[in-house]
Amino acid sequence: MAVLDILAYPDARLKQTSQPVTEFDADLRRFLADLEATMRAAPGGVGLAAPQVGRPQRVVIVDVSGRPDIPHNGRMVLINPEVREREGEAVGREGCLSVPDYTGNVARAARIRVRAMDESGARREYACEGYEARAVQHEIDHLDGLLFLDRLVSRRDLFRRKVYK
Ligand code: NI
Repeated sequence: MAVLDILAYPDARLKQTSQPVTEFDADLRRFLADLEATMRAAPGGVGLAAPQVGRPQRVVIVDVSGRPDIPHNGRMVLINPEVREREGEAVGREGCLSVPDYTGNVARAARIRVRAMDESGARREYACEGYEARAVQHEIDHLDGLLFLDRLVSRRDLFRRKVYK
Protein backbone atom coordinates (compact mmCIF):
# COMPACT_ATOMS: atom_id res chain seq x y z
CA MET A 1 0.00 0.00 0.00
CA ALA A 2 1.19 3.47 -0.80
CA VAL A 3 0.02 6.96 0.00
CA LEU A 4 -0.27 8.71 -3.35
CA ASP A 5 0.27 12.38 -4.19
CA ILE A 6 -3.00 14.33 -4.44
CA LEU A 7 -3.25 16.74 -7.38
CA ALA A 8 -4.09 20.32 -6.43
CA TYR A 9 -6.19 22.91 -8.24
CA PRO A 10 -5.53 24.27 -10.89
CA ASP A 11 -3.89 21.07 -12.19
CA ALA A 12 -5.46 20.44 -15.62
CA ARG A 13 -5.82 16.72 -14.89
CA LEU A 14 -8.59 17.57 -12.40
CA LYS A 15 -10.66 18.89 -15.34
CA GLN A 16 -10.62 15.62 -17.32
CA THR A 17 -13.59 13.33 -17.77
CA SER A 18 -12.68 9.93 -16.35
CA GLN A 19 -13.24 6.63 -18.16
CA PRO A 20 -15.32 3.67 -16.93
CA VAL A 21 -13.55 0.72 -15.32
CA THR A 22 -13.74 -2.45 -17.42
CA GLU A 23 -11.14 -4.71 -15.76
CA PHE A 24 -11.76 -5.85 -12.18
CA ASP A 25 -8.31 -7.27 -11.68
CA ALA A 26 -5.39 -7.29 -9.27
CA ASP A 27 -4.17 -3.94 -10.59
CA LEU A 28 -7.53 -2.35 -9.72
CA ARG A 29 -7.48 -3.88 -6.23
CA ARG A 30 -3.95 -2.61 -5.64
CA PHE A 31 -4.99 0.84 -6.79
CA LEU A 32 -8.06 0.80 -4.51
CA ALA A 33 -5.86 -0.04 -1.52
CA ASP A 34 -3.59 2.89 -2.37
CA LEU A 35 -6.53 5.24 -2.93
CA GLU A 36 -8.03 4.31 0.44
CA ALA A 37 -4.68 4.65 2.23
CA THR A 38 -4.30 8.10 0.66
CA MET A 39 -7.80 9.15 1.78
CA ARG A 40 -7.23 7.92 5.32
CA ALA A 41 -3.84 9.65 5.58
CA ALA A 42 -5.38 13.02 4.74
CA PRO A 43 -6.77 15.12 7.59
CA GLY A 44 -10.56 15.13 7.39
CA GLY A 45 -10.51 12.86 4.34
CA VAL A 46 -14.04 11.44 3.91
CA GLY A 47 -13.81 10.78 0.19
CA LEU A 48 -11.36 10.60 -2.67
CA ALA A 49 -11.76 10.13 -6.41
CA ALA A 50 -9.23 8.39 -8.69
CA PRO A 51 -8.58 11.44 -10.91
CA GLN A 52 -7.40 13.34 -7.80
CA VAL A 53 -4.35 11.05 -7.76
CA GLY A 54 -3.86 11.24 -11.52
CA ARG A 55 -5.79 8.12 -12.57
CA PRO A 56 -8.66 9.15 -14.87
CA GLN A 57 -10.98 6.24 -14.06
CA ARG A 58 -14.51 6.26 -12.65
CA VAL A 59 -13.60 5.15 -9.12
CA VAL A 60 -14.37 6.86 -5.81
CA ILE A 61 -14.18 5.91 -2.15
CA VAL A 62 -16.41 7.56 0.45
CA ASP A 63 -16.44 6.85 4.17
CA VAL A 64 -18.12 9.38 6.45
CA SER A 65 -18.57 6.91 9.32
CA GLY A 66 -16.01 8.80 11.44
CA ARG A 67 -18.33 11.82 11.70
CA PRO A 68 -20.51 11.70 14.81
CA ASP A 69 -24.26 11.16 14.65
CA ILE A 70 -24.94 11.03 10.93
CA PRO A 71 -26.57 8.30 8.87
CA HIS A 72 -24.07 6.44 6.70
CA ASN A 73 -23.35 3.25 4.77
CA GLY A 74 -19.82 2.87 6.13
CA ARG A 75 -17.01 2.44 3.64
CA MET A 76 -18.26 2.62 0.05
CA VAL A 77 -16.14 1.76 -2.97
CA LEU A 78 -18.11 3.15 -5.92
CA ILE A 79 -16.95 2.05 -9.37
CA ASN A 80 -18.68 3.49 -12.43
CA PRO A 81 -21.20 5.17 -10.09
CA GLU A 82 -24.47 6.63 -11.32
CA VAL A 83 -26.94 8.72 -9.33
CA ARG A 84 -30.36 7.16 -10.02
CA GLU A 85 -32.63 9.34 -7.92
CA ARG A 86 -32.33 12.76 -6.34
CA GLU A 87 -34.64 14.30 -3.75
CA GLY A 88 -34.70 17.61 -1.98
CA GLU A 89 -31.96 20.21 -1.85
CA ALA A 90 -29.60 21.40 0.84
CA VAL A 91 -26.84 23.99 0.91
CA GLY A 92 -23.75 23.03 2.88
CA ARG A 93 -20.06 23.77 3.27
CA GLU A 94 -17.62 21.64 1.28
CA GLY A 95 -13.90 21.21 1.22
CA CYS A 96 -11.70 19.16 -1.08
CA LEU A 97 -8.27 17.60 -0.68
CA SER A 98 -7.42 19.09 -4.10
CA VAL A 99 -8.42 22.61 -2.99
CA PRO A 100 -6.65 22.74 0.37
CA ASP A 101 -6.92 26.48 1.07
CA TYR A 102 -10.66 27.04 0.59
CA THR A 103 -14.12 25.82 1.51
CA GLY A 104 -17.38 26.81 -0.15
CA ASN A 105 -21.15 26.55 0.01
CA VAL A 106 -22.72 24.23 -2.55
CA ALA A 107 -26.33 23.13 -3.16
CA ARG A 108 -26.75 19.36 -3.47
CA ALA A 109 -29.61 16.89 -3.49
CA ALA A 110 -30.49 16.03 0.11
CA ARG A 111 -31.13 12.35 -0.63
CA ILE A 112 -29.88 10.17 -3.47
CA ARG A 113 -29.84 6.60 -4.63
CA VAL A 114 -26.57 5.66 -6.23
CA ARG A 115 -25.84 2.55 -8.26
CA ALA A 116 -22.26 1.38 -8.67
CA MET A 117 -20.07 -1.67 -8.85
CA ASP A 118 -17.87 -2.81 -6.00
CA GLU A 119 -14.25 -3.93 -6.23
CA SER A 120 -15.25 -7.34 -7.54
CA GLY A 121 -17.56 -5.94 -10.23
CA ALA A 122 -20.79 -6.80 -8.38
CA ARG A 123 -23.67 -4.31 -8.69
CA ARG A 124 -24.52 -2.39 -5.54
CA GLU A 125 -27.09 0.24 -4.72
CA TYR A 126 -27.00 2.66 -1.80
CA ALA A 127 -29.46 5.15 -0.36
CA CYS A 128 -27.57 8.16 0.99
CA GLU A 129 -28.74 11.27 2.78
CA GLY A 130 -27.35 14.42 4.33
CA TYR A 131 -23.60 14.69 4.66
CA GLU A 132 -22.98 11.30 3.04
CA ALA A 133 -25.16 12.19 0.02
CA ARG A 134 -23.18 15.44 -0.28
CA ALA A 135 -19.85 13.58 -0.16
CA VAL A 136 -20.94 11.08 -2.83
CA GLN A 137 -22.16 13.85 -5.17
CA HIS A 138 -18.92 15.80 -4.61
CA GLU A 139 -16.76 12.75 -5.43
CA ILE A 140 -18.78 11.78 -8.52
CA ASP A 141 -18.33 15.36 -9.77
CA HIS A 142 -14.57 14.73 -9.82
CA LEU A 143 -15.17 11.98 -12.41
CA ASP A 144 -16.66 14.60 -14.72
CA GLY A 145 -13.89 17.14 -14.15
CA LEU A 146 -15.92 19.29 -11.74
CA LEU A 147 -14.75 20.78 -8.45
CA PHE A 148 -16.90 22.38 -5.75
CA LEU A 149 -15.46 25.67 -7.03
CA ASP A 150 -17.56 25.12 -10.18
CA ARG A 151 -20.76 24.79 -8.15
CA LEU A 152 -20.58 27.56 -5.56
CA VAL A 153 -23.97 29.01 -4.62
CA SER A 154 -22.46 32.44 -5.30
CA ARG A 155 -19.04 34.05 -5.56
CA ARG A 156 -19.41 35.20 -1.95
CA ASP A 157 -19.75 31.56 -0.89
CA LEU A 158 -16.00 30.87 -1.07
CA PHE A 159 -14.04 31.01 2.18
CA ARG A 160 -10.32 30.88 2.87
CA ARG A 161 -9.53 28.16 5.39
CA LYS A 162 -8.25 29.31 8.73
CA VAL A 163 -4.73 28.13 9.40
CA TYR A 164 -4.23 26.75 12.89
CA LYS A 165 -0.73 26.50 14.30
NI1 NI B 1 -12.93 16.80 -3.76
